[in-house]
Amino acid sequence: MLPLNIGLFRPSRYTPSMHDFRYAGNQLFCEGVSVAALAGKFGTPLFVYSQRTLEQHFQSLDRALAPLDHRICFAMKANSNLSVLRTLANLGSAFDVVSVGELQRVIAAGGDPSGCVFAGVAKTEAEIEFALRQNVYSFNAESEPELQRINKIAARLRKIAPVSVRVNPNVSAHTHAKITTGTYENKFGVAFEQIKGLYARAARLKNLRLRGLQMHIGSQITEIGPFRQAVEKILPLFRDLARAYALEFLSIGGGIGVVYRPALASGGQAWWKTAAAKKILTPQKYADALLPLLQPLGLKILIEPGRFICGNAGILVTRVEYLKRTGKKNFVIVDAAMNDLIRPAFYDAYHEIIPLNRKNGATLKTDIVGGICESGDFFAKDRVLPRVAGGDYLALLSAGAYSFAMASNYNTRPLAAEVLVHGKNAALVRQRQPLVETWAGEKIAPWLKR
Ligand code: LLP
Repeated sequence: MLPLNIGLFRPSRYTPSMHDFRYAGNQLFCEGVSVAALAGKFGTPLFVYSQRTLEQHFQSLDRALAPLDHRICFAMKANSNLSVLRTLANLGSAFDVVSVGELQRVIAAGGDPSGCVFAGVAKTEAEIEFALRQNVYSFNAESEPELQRINKIAARLRKIAPVSVRVNPNVSAHTHAKITTGTYENKFGVAFEQIKGLYARAARLKNLRLRGLQMHIGSQITEIGPFRQAVEKILPLFRDLARAYALEFLSIGGGIGVVYRPALASGGQAWWKTAAAKKILTPQKYADALLPLLQPLGLKILIEPGRFICGNAGILVTRVEYLKRTGKKNFVIVDAAMNDLIRPAFYDAYHEIIPLNRKNGATLKTDIVGGICESGDFFAKDRVLPRVAGGDYLALLSAGAYSFAMASNYNTRPLAAEVLVHGKNAALVRQRQPLVETWAGEKIAPWLKR
């Protein structure tokens, strides 16, 4: 097998759309491993992740932010596989968690809970207590009742809880409505105008320590404007609060977008020269715009990227089951479905789809759909694909973020397997869910017993 990609990484040409899935000859490889070989060995649907891609995205961001005292808290809601977390923890990543389950995963992956921030609008008492016992770095509180609850639990445990409040800057992120979070239409955070009053009241709660301020305006943001606008808007507020309460950090949230189309189809074309590549929001552009605003603060800056780090570090491999033509359309029916990757159904998201075995010649305009009993179960509509046959394999690209993480057992379909590739090595990092586990924990009601 060819040792692919080794030495190909050039920081100057780094773009967030770069990744380690490439054709060698006509076979798709992940780093140095044939993806078809993985599909043969582990079956499909199968998620395949490139460790090198994860590392490069993390490091590029880390490098761009180096002039700042900064901490990257990977938003693990995007991909919480233990091996992904361990890869990032090994590079010094901290984590943005949104549930006690995610915090437990950090611990299971060997991450450090004391570097974590705990976000989310609905933290329960049990979650707060667990996070306090684990000494998380900060609770990102989203409301006054939550601050009161954290204070009460901290008092009971005789602890001082570090908190920041999520400010809603009321800035539009120019992204999909379901992933816009920083406007007053959204449930998140505390309105900009209410923050000072809230900090004044929170400062009187004896078991809280006001440690920072947090914001997050949305996800899959592909231009710098909204980030700059939001940071500019909250800076004067943050300066006042930092002075009044000796705050230690400002978190500017996550949200850096990735390129979903077309990341790879160029098949060796110099992608970094294309017009699309030039427009991409890179870590360097992000840093160039924000560093001049943030550096003068002289305080710690937190950032919570999820998708940017893992989005195009993963693919979903699926097998073609049937080809079919109804009155009007062609359908390629595959063995993965919306339960494995819900983004097209839920956000009309675009994922590039390519064959594992590239063939020249005829193409076909077709929908690519799963087997779930809903018309919303599709991966692509009217997509032009090279002609495929039953038994062929396809890869859905950029399926490293919010893909397995949002998978379900709908239609009693087991969760897919996940593989991590590192150079020429591949490891099964999550076994395919055994079918019986999909009803584990269920019981027949006693009066139904036979
Ligand atoms: N911080 C907070 C407070 C967040 O709510 C999120 C994402 C992030 C950080 C990370 O955002 P990122 O860097 O990944 O954009 N399921 C959707 C995306 C939902 C994002 C939720 N919050 C999708 O598949 O597009």
